[in-house]
This record gives sequence, C-alpha cells and structure tokens, in this order.
Amino acid sequence: MTVKKPAKGAAKGAGASGSSSGQGSGPGGGQRQLRVRVKTAKKRKTSSTRWLERQLNDPYVQASKREGMRSRAAYKLSEIDDKYKFLKPGQRVVDLGAAPGGWSQIAADRVRSIVGAGAGRGQVVAIDYLGVEPLPGVEIVMLDFTDPTAEAKLKALLRGGGADVVLSDMAAPTVGHTRTDHLRIMGLAEQAAHFACDVLAPGGVFLCKVFQGGTARELLDVLKRNFGTVRHVKPPASRSDSAELYVLATEFRGEKPVE
Ligand SMILES: C[S@@+](CC[C@H](N)C(=O)[O-])C[C@H]1O[C@@H](n2cnc3c(N)ncnc32)[C@H](O)[C@@H]1O
Repeated sequence: MTVKKPAKGAAKGAGASGSSSGQGSGPGGGQRQLRVRVKTAKKRKTSSTRWLERQLNDPYVQASKREGMRSRAAYKLSEIDDKYKFLKPGQRVVDLGAAPGGWSQIAADRVRSIVGAGAGRGQVVAIDYLGVEPLPGVEIVMLDFTDPTAEAKLKALLRGGGADVVLSDMAAPTVGHTRTDHLRIMGLAEQAAHFACDVLAPGGVFLCKVFQGGTARELLDVLKRNFGTVRHVKPPASRSDSAELYVLATEFRGEKPVE
C-alpha cells in the first residue's frame, strides 16, 4: 500500500456549501476543487462549526476516507517514513497509543506483517486503552501502557522478545491547561523511551510524539546517550498550528540502557 500525498481538495457535506478555489493535482486531480463552508446552526457552538469546516476541508481527512485509512494521523507516519525510510520488510514494530489504528496500518504494510507467513514476515504489536477494531497483520493489546504489566505483555508477544522499531503517538486527553498537557505528554514520552531502550535491538529506531518547544532536556539526554542520531521532525500532515512535534531517534546503540 502506498499512501499518496493528498491534494488540497475538499468534499461536500450536509449543511455545507462550496465555493470554487482552483484545480487539484493529486488524487482526484483535474477535478474542480471546492472549499466547503459550514453554516452556523442554532445548537452548534462556533468552535464546533469551525472544527467541522476544518475537517471537511482537510485534504488528509478526505484522503484517509478515500484510501481506507483509520486515521488522518496515518499520513504523519507515512510522511516521516517516506523521508527517513526506517520501516522495512520483516521488522518487528511496537505501536504505543495505536487507536484507531492508522499508524499500525502503515507499519503493517511496510514491514509486511499482513501477507503470508514464514520467513521475512514482519510483526506489529499495538497497544491502547481504547479499543482498536481488528486489523490484518496487527496484534492488539487493549491496556493502559502505564499499567505495571503492560511492558511485559508487549515483550511476551514480540518475536524473540525484542523490537526493531518502537512508535509512540500516545497523547492523553488534553485538559486545556498548556503546562499540564505538556507534562502529561512528556511523561508518556519518557516511559515510551525507557521501554524502547529496553526492548530495541541494536540499530533500532524510536519515533515519539512530543511537544513544540522540543523534547525535555532529560529525555533528550537519554536518547542522545542511547541512539546514534536524534532529530525533531514535523511532517506536513501535522497541522502547523498544532504544538505537536515528533522526536526520531535512530541507530540504537544496543548496549545496556544508559539512564
Ligand atoms: C493521537 S491518538 C493515536 C492515533 C494513532 N497513531 C493512529 O494513527 O490512529 C493517541 C492515542 O494514545 C492513546 N493513549 C494515551 N495514553 C495512553 C496510555 N497511557 N496507554 C495506552 N494508550 C494511550 C489514546 O487512547 C489515543 O488513542
């Protein structure tokens, strides 16, 4: 499965009206593209109207529907991997915070955990405390990653007890208080990083959602000590007005984790 970059386009929806805004060039290119306007409704808050309008006009949302992807977020992993090419056939991948399953879909496709059995087949193990509908080639654990039994359960599922890639798109529900939200996401990122250092094979890769302003010093130091290269990445699919950012650590040194 190759995920095409969505063109700037739009779809029509209930209660929406379109206005012309030029030609598209990607999937569906050549067709007249419409910008969807959502009329305010008595019972809908202005913020909900704005959200709806943004969804209807978001080319990634449109592409995810068209291409059967579980989430818009799938394009973030797809774009990061298109650039850095760390997902390879046969690898074992752990997807932390997997629901509804977009990243797992991309990983399963790229490590070839879907087709056939036998040598060369990859593996994807996914965890979320929310349910994930079954996905071909993905083993799903429904559990809080911070649960004391979670890491052992993931390891027990992994072939050989180890992984080649650890992905984390985990994000706790925001409370709207920036500092609290930042601390919660960084807490999850730190736990994910320690798990990655524990489970990755030498040469392994860790990709994790953090927050703009960068990765907390302590976490960055742990990653720099344990990986050959550490960089921050913001794929085009990550909205520019969002504080979301990813840290990509490659070439895991594979020594005993340095705390
Ligand atoms: C942005 S969504 C992930 C989207 C996913 N990458 C995709 O492409 O479909 C973040 C997910 O992290 C999960 N999450 C947050 N905290 C978690 C935790 N402690 N344990 C497991 N999952 C967690 C949430 O339930 C949510 O489904």
